[in-house]
Amino acid sequence: MKIEIFKMERIQSLWENVVDYNLSESGVHPLNLEELLAPEEIKELTRVELGYTQTNGTPELRENISRLYSSVNLEQIMVTAGSSEANFLLMWSLIEPGDEVIFELPNYMQMWGLARAFGAKVKPLWLKEELGWQPDLDDLKKLITPTTKLIILTNPNNPTGAILSQEAREEIIRLAEKVGAWLLVDEVYRGAERNGLETLSFWGSYERVIVVGGLSKAYGLPGLRLGWMLGPEDLIKKIWTYHDYTTISVSALTDHLATRALQPERRRKLLERTRNILNTNLPFLEQWLKSFDGLFDYQAPQAGAILFARYHLKINSTELVEKVLKEKSVLLVPGDHFELDQHLRFGYGSNQTYLKAALDRVAEVLKKIKK
Ligand SMILES: Cc1ncc(COP(=O)(O)O)c(C=O)c1O
Repeated sequence: MKIEIFKMERIQSLWENVVDYNLSESGVHPLNLEELLAPEEIKELTRVELGYTQTNGTPELRENISRLYSSVNLEQIMVTAGSSEANFLLMWSLIEPGDEVIFELPNYMQMWGLARAFGAKVKPLWLKEELGWQPDLDDLKKLITPTTKLIILTNPNNPTGAILSQEAREEIIRLAEKVGAWLLVDEVYRGAERNGLETLSFWGSYERVIVVGGLSKAYGLPGLRLGWMLGPEDLIKKIWTYHDYTTISVSALTDHLATRALQPERRRKLLERTRNILNTNLPFLEQWLKSFDGLFDYQAPQAGAILFARYHLKINSTELVEKVLKEKSVLLVPGDHFELDQHLRFGYGSNQTYLKAALDRVAEVLKKIKK
C-alpha cells in the first residue's frame, strides 16, 4: 500500500515545537492539569491504576460522551486515541479498492490520504468561498451516484471555520439516503462556536451516519489524545475488532481525565474558556489582516481557532510559509496543504501577546513581497 505524505501534519510534526511562534495550531491554547482539576482531584490522579481499561472506553466516559448527542446508547460509542484514530479505523474498516468516495474540500486531509491509500476513487466536493464556504448543492447532485459508498465532511470545517447551512445539511442527508451512502462527519470542532450555539450534530439524521468527536479542539486538551466515534451498533462492533489491532485502548489516565473533562459543569467552563479566547483574539487578527489594505480577503470563521485567508501576492503558499518559517521562525499552514493555493491558515487560539508578536514577524516578511 502506498500512502502519500500528509503534508500539514508533517510540517507540524517537524516544526511546531521548534519554532519561536506556532500559528499552525487549530485549537486553543491547551490547559494544564491545575487548570483542569481541583487540587483534591489531582491527588486522586495519583491513585489511578495504570492498567488496561475497558478497551472501547469505560462506561462512565461513554456515558458522558452520550450526553452530547440525542438518543445514543453506549454500544454505539467507541473511544479512540484522538479523533484521528477514529477516522483511521473508520476508513480502514469501510473502504475497499475501487470504492467511490466524495470528500469535502478544503478539509483536514487525513481521510483524503487514507481513502486514496486504501484504493478508493475520491471525488472532491468543493466548498465555495463566494458562497461563504458552503457547497454548491448542484455540484453534489452531479457527484453523487448510486455507487457512492461514502461522503466525508468536517463540520464545523477545518480550515475555513464555516458551519454547513441547514439547507446544505438537509440536502446532503437527503442525497446520501437516496443512494444509501455512508455519511462520515468529523465534528471535532463542535463546541468551539464563537457565538456559543453548538452546531447541530449529524448524529441521528440518517441510519448510515457516523460522527467523530474529540477533546483536542473545542476543549483545549489535545495532549490527552482522546477521541470517539458514534455509529450503528453493528458497525461499532466491527470497528472494535480493528481497534484491537491498533492502540487497543486509550491510557487509563486519559480515560479518567476525559471522563472528568466531560462532566457537564466542567465541560461548560471549558467551552466558555475556548469561546472567550476566540472572541478576544479574532478581532485582533482581523484588524491585523485589514491593516494590509486589501492584501487579504477572508470570511470570518464561525467556529475553531482558525482563519483561512486568501492573499493577493505573487508567491505560492508553500513558498510563502517556508519563507516565514526560515526568516522569522513562525509556522503557518499554506493553502497548498488543503489543495487551495493563494491561501494561508492562521491559528489564532494562543494568548494575545504571543499572537501579536508572531503576526508582527509575519508582517515583516509580507511587506517585502511584491504584489
Ligand atoms: C478535522 C480534524 N479531524 C481530526 C483531527 C485530529 O485531531 P485529534 O487530535 O483529535 O486526533 C484534526 C486536527 O487538526 C482535525 O482538524
